[in-house]
Amino acid sequence: MTAETPAAAGRTPSPDTTAALYFSGIGNTRYAVNRLARGLGVKDENILSIEDDEDRVQETLAHADTAIVAHPNYMCLMPKIMSDYLAQHGTWLANKDIITLVTYANFFFDADLQVARLLRKQGISFRAQSNISIQMPMIVCDMKLMKSTDTDIQSTLKAKADRKLDECAQIILAGGTVHDGQESDRLKAFLRQRMFYQGRIQKDFARLRISDACTRCGACVRACPKQNLTIREDRVVQSGHCTQCYRCANLCPRQAITLWGKKIQWQYKGI
Ligand SMILES: Cc1cc2nc3c(=O)[nH]c(=O)nc-3n(C[C@H](O)[C@H](O)[C@H](O)COP(=O)(O)O)c2cc1C
Ligand code: SF4
Ligand code: SF4
Repeated sequence: MTAETPAAAGRTPSPDTTAALYFSGIGNTRYAVNRLARGLGVKDENILSIEDDEDRVQETLAHADTAIVAHPNYMCLMPKIMSDYLAQHGTWLANKDIITLVTYANFFFDADLQVARLLRKQGISFRAQSNISIQMPMIVCDMKLMKSTDTDIQSTLKAKADRKLDECAQIILAGGTVHDGQESDRLKAFLRQRMFYQGRIQKDFARLRISDACTRCGACVRACPKQNLTIREDRVVQSGHCTQCYRCANLCPRQAITLWGKKIQWQYKGI
C-alpha cells in the first residue's frame, strides 16, 4: 500500500457529501465498502448498490462531492454489470473526488484503476482520490483449484481486511490518499490476465449449467442481479445475460448450478 501525506493529496472528504456506489456478487464488496464508508463517517443511506433504484442513486450522487466506487476483481477487470452501469451512468460521477475500492481473492495488479480508466475513456472529468484493494475470500465455488485448504481463511482475511479498511479511512480523513494498484502494473495485468480473459469477463456469459438436482425452488431466479434466470414449466432457463457473479451457484440449496467448473466444491455464504 502506498499512502501519500496530506500535503500531496487533495481535499478531505466530508461525511455529509460522500456517497458510495458498488456492485457485489456474494457480499465481500458490500462488506468492504460499508466498512470503509462508515469509517469515513458516511451515512448508511448514502451507501448504494447498482441494484438499487436508479433515481435514488442519481439523486444521492448529485449531492455528493466524493464518491467511493467499488466492485469485485474479475481477472483484473470489473464485472460486466458494473462496466455496463458505468457506461450508462458514468456522468453521475462527473467532477467528483473518486475513491475506488476493489475486493479480490488472490491478486489484483491494477484492478483498482479500472473505474478511473473507464471514466476517462468516456471523457468524464473527476479527481482520483485513492485506489484501494482489499483481499477477501474466493467466491468461485466450482473449481477445485480455487478452494482454500485453510479452514480459518475467512476469519483471517476478515480481520486483515477490517484493519486495512480502518487504516485507509484514517489516512483519507487525515487528508491523505492511498494507492494500491499502480500504473506500472498495467502491462503485467494485461499479459497475465486481461489478454486471456477480457472476452470472457466483458461479454454476457451464456453457458451456465443447471443440473437435474434442481427442484425449481426459485431462489436463484429471485437473487440474480441480471434477471438472467426464469422458471419455465419443468426447468430453470437462462437468457444468456449472466455477469458471472456466482451468486446463484453459491446459494443454490441443491448445488445444481455451475459456471466455470463442473461440480460445486464448496459454497461461500458471505463474510
Ligand atoms: C468470475 C470471477 C473472476 C474472478 N477473478 C479473480 C481474479 O482474477 N483474481 C482474484 O484475486 N480474485 C478473483 N475473483 C474473486 C473475487 O474477486 C473475490 O472473491 C471478491 O471478493 C468477490 O466479491 P463479491 O462477494 O463482492 O462478489 C474472481 C471472482 C469471479 C466470480
Ligand atoms: S436455486 Fe437451485 S434448486 Fe432452486 S431453482 Fe435455482 S437451480 Fe433450482
Ligand atoms: S445467473 Fe447466477 S452467476 Fe449469472 S448473473 Fe445471475 S446470479 Fe450471477
